Amino acid sequence: MNNVLETIAAGRDRFVSELKDFLRIPSISVEPDRAGDVKRASDWILAHFRAMGLAAEQYPTERHPVVLASWNGAPGKPTVLFYGHCDVQPVEPLDEWHTAPFEPTERGGSLFARGSSDDKGQLFTHVKAVESWLKATGSLPVNVKFLIEAEEEIGSPNLPKWLADHRDLAAADVVVISDTSQFGPGLPSVCTGLRGIAAFEIHVRTAGSDLHSGSFGGAVPNAIVALANIVSRLHDAGGRVAVPGFYDDVAEPSPEEKDSWAALPFTDDEFRQAAGSIALGGEPGRTTLERVWSRPTLEVIGIGGGHQGTGHKGIVPARAFAKGSCRLVPAQNPARVMECVRRHIESLAPAGVEVEVRHGHGTPPVSIPTDSRWVAASVRALERGFGRQPVFIREGGSISIVTRFVEEYGMPCLLLGFGLPDDRIHGPNEKFSLADFEAGIRTSAALLEELAR
Ligand code: BES
Ligand code: MN
Ligand code: MN
Repeated sequence: MNNVLETIAAGRDRFVSELKDFLRIPSISVEPDRAGDVKRASDWILAHFRAMGLAAEQYPTERHPVVLASWNGAPGKPTVLFYGHCDVQPVEPLDEWHTAPFEPTERGGSLFARGSSDDKGQLFTHVKAVESWLKATGSLPVNVKFLIEAEEEIGSPNLPKWLADHRDLAAADVVVISDTSQFGPGLPSVCTGLRGIAAFEIHVRTAGSDLHSGSFGGAVPNAIVALANIVSRLHDAGGRVAVPGFYDDVAEPSPEEKDSWAALPFTDDEFRQAAGSIALGGEPGRTTLERVWSRPTLEVIGIGGGHQGTGHKGIVPARAFAKGSCRLVPAQNPARVMECVRRHIESLAPAGVEVEVRHGHGTPPVSIPTDSRWVAASVRALERGFGRQPVFIREGGSISIVTRFVEEYGMPCLLLGFGLPDDRIHGPNEKFSLADFEAGIRTSAALLEELAR
């Protein structure tokens, strides 16, 4: 293992420069015009695996491809599947970036680029750990697979079918995922739960087309006002979600888990500052960590309709829309929650207003039991990589495929995030700490050894 650590230290600058090449590819999966770039990112990691001496193939799907690489030279030892995603989020608003999103730039010990933390930089820690083991010793302590998809940021629509069709190829004893965060700088973390998602759209129509507000205004309903009324009744005045049945299946964390959260180094004010928010707010009677980790939410993420151009326009708008998504917690079910939301919104439609609720993607929440030998191995590896005992946390975000691994295939998952809470993933000036990049590589190298024990 000492040789491996030396190889990692000696390779550090090359690793960063390779990561920059990966980050230069604008692999935004949601934008149809970028499909070629998404393919290029997938090609890039495929070629990288092959150059390292792994057997690797790319599999087309209905949209973006999947890459699977493997090394099976440790018979009798466990097989570890590293999962990651090479697609990234859009970059707007562009004018808020201090340096261009696809020109990776080092500043203050961090690498700034879209995808640096979510997830190219994080997945690359495992790639470089495996490469360093192979280089230093010609071998690995366990069998290793990499599954790198390119549709995570659009809810992994094609990966479940790919997994079902390639069960043997992806079979493993444990799945390792670095696509979350540490609780704080230098504080390694094991994530024991992710929230799920239920996405939806509300479409309101009051007339065939926009009407002259002089001739018709005052005598016909206004689609934007009707929509605003609906949106304003999704929460009560105190901030609790007002959808009947919304909280029915919510499971409370155990008292021990809540106590462990209360002991974490956390203050509301630091959280507020990291968010850049003017104030904090949410469901009454809950702490901030409960609000983001163990309580469900309903957010309106966009709203539109009517006149958006310069000046004024004398119209009564005929159409308006809003987009929303719920974050879900154990033991909520996306379809059941969506049904409650749809019924509530339809019940709010005033006479003469057509309201249509469309369902988007759904991802169930996931919990990771902490009493497995795999979690124990990851705790030892994080201690070795970061020189500090990890804490147990949850995260409020979602990774669609994790539920499938856990529930459909019974594969234990380890969520070992190397990002930081202020990495601004999905926002302008996304970054990844280069110290954490290195600590992540060391952790992964140690993890391969610990998982073999
Ligand atoms: N890496 C994130 C998930 C995440 C975010 C974990 C924050 C922990 C903290 C992932 O790439 C992501 O953005 N997921 C989407 C999933 C959605 C598209 C189904 C999310 O959470 O919105
Ligand atoms: Mn991610
Ligand atoms: Mn993401």
